[in-house]
Amino acid sequence: MIVQFGECRLQLVQGDITRQDVDAIANAANSALAGGGGVDGAIHRAAGPLLKQQTAARYPDGCPTGSAVATDGGNLSAKFVFHAVGPVWGGGDQGEPSQLAGAYRRCLELAVEHNCESIAIPAISTGVYGYPMDLAAQTTLTTVRDFLVSHQNPKRVNVVLFDGGAFGAFARVLESIIG
Ligand code: APR
Repeated sequence: MIVQFGECRLQLVQGDITRQDVDAIANAANSALAGGGGVDGAIHRAAGPLLKQQTAARYPDGCPTGSAVATDGGNLSAKFVFHAVGPVWGGGDQGEPSQLAGAYRRCLELAVEHNCESIAIPAISTGVYGYPMDLAAQTTLTTVRDFLVSHQNPKRVNVVLFDGGAFGAFARVLESIIG
């Protein structure tokens, strides 16, 4: 599913984010940048040891929830990885939506700062961190839409959903926010 916001294209893709042909990939990391399973494990496996070396050297204090930090892409075809830290779901009244929005906004800002035309982003917080998929889709897609409308950059954003359930939830929300 593809939606255009001015010169920018937002596309929902089902698949493995490490296979995306883009300038930058966003990761769903933890605040210690300690590595993990899920999309974090897949990105580190595909990229090789450089990412851990760079996060340890550049960000010894980690990254706060609701933000993101950059490394190179290592063995990935993407030039950069933006390690974003989403919130752990705690029921929704502990600032989770604004923290999730902050993580995505910072990834999009980093893409602009690093002159990336394209970025692939996963459904941050919807795995181990337990954020309900439909609520995550709402915050994710409105945050990306608002950023693209106001900045007209990056030109291409691929939201990469790992399975059909996630893809369906994001597609329903995207239809509702453009309709
Ligand atoms: N490509 C795209 N999406 C993927 C991939 C992949 N290769 N692998 C998993 N996903 C999806 C999951 O299905 C889920 O919808 O990414 C989403 C986020 O899930 P997690 O990776 O568990 O991330 P999150 O919920 O943000 O939890 C972060 O998990 O791996 C640790 O270090 C990480 O502690 C941090 C925590």
